[in-house]
Amino acid sequence: MSHILSQTKDGVARIEIDRPDKKNALTAAMYQAMADAIRAAEADAGVRVVLIHGKPDLFTAGNDLQDFLDNPPRDDDRPVFQFLYGISQATKPIVAAVAGAAVGIGTTMLLHCDLVYAAPNARLQLPFVNLGLVPEAASSLLLPALAGYQRAAELLLLGEPFSAHKAKEIGLVTEVVPEDQLFDFALAQARKLAGKPAASLRLTKLLMKQGQAAAVAQRIKLESDHFGERLKSPEAKEAFNAFLEKRKPDFSKFG
Ligand code: COA
Repeated sequence: MSHILSQTKDGVARIEIDRPDKKNALTAAMYQAMADAIRAAEADAGVRVVLIHGKPDLFTAGNDLQDFLDNPPRDDDRPVFQFLYGISQATKPIVAAVAGAAVGIGTTMLLHCDLVYAAPNARLQLPFVNLGLVPEAASSLLLPALAGYQRAAELLLLGEPFSAHKAKEIGLVTEVVPEDQLFDFALAQARKLAGKPAASLRLTKLLMKQGQAAAVAQRIKLESDHFGERLKSPEAKEAFNAFLEKRKPDFSKFG
């Protein structure tokens, strides 16, 4: 059971994150299923657009922290990297519908989507520092470029939750859409794209992205090297255990 549902209709490949009992936290198996779904969408001429979404009140709580402890990602071939390279190098447009928690990769993956719609109940967060980690998904490159250094620093260094409206203000979200209309709106926008000339869409996306494609791939790799090291750090272990034990982390004992 991968907790990732995928289906294609009218040229739109939907990827739904479906693990509500764990706040849609992503395990290695779920990353693999998402990477496979993106790869299949890229290869299928019948797919024009990808739509990623969760539940009406939940996008994803990010990496599954228990899974991180049990199966830390070790090399570039691990499912999380397959997903990151897949989403960052996709040639077809990707639309995201974001509601509720969008933590960690739930926020950073949006930097690789083309149209991002978020509900007012969305709570985005980049908590990497608070977990003893570093940013991933090339967010250390793309977020300062998108939002400006100081706004990116606020989000990445303090790691506090922020709203859909703030995400729109910094350019991460295309439009804020009421909760009860979010999914239908995102699907309608995806269908609009699906009706357009596919080659023109692909080339336009390529033209917008190719200037930084190599830098993005390099940054994903550089971040992942640091991330892998930080995962073994005592601060990360303390943060993960504190979360799973439902207590506040204590970093005072580490230098
Ligand atoms: N990894 C593993 N389990 C997670 C999880 C995660 N990232 N996020 C939530 N869960 C689990 C909780 O452990 C809990 O499981 P339990 O019912 O077996 O105890 C269940 O999902 C519900 O989570 P809970 O924290 O009670 O929900 P909430 O509504 O109070 O808070 C969040 C929601 C998303 C704000 C909170 O769960 C959270 O901060 N999660 C961690 C986010 C995170 O740090 N992600 C990693 C980014 S790199």
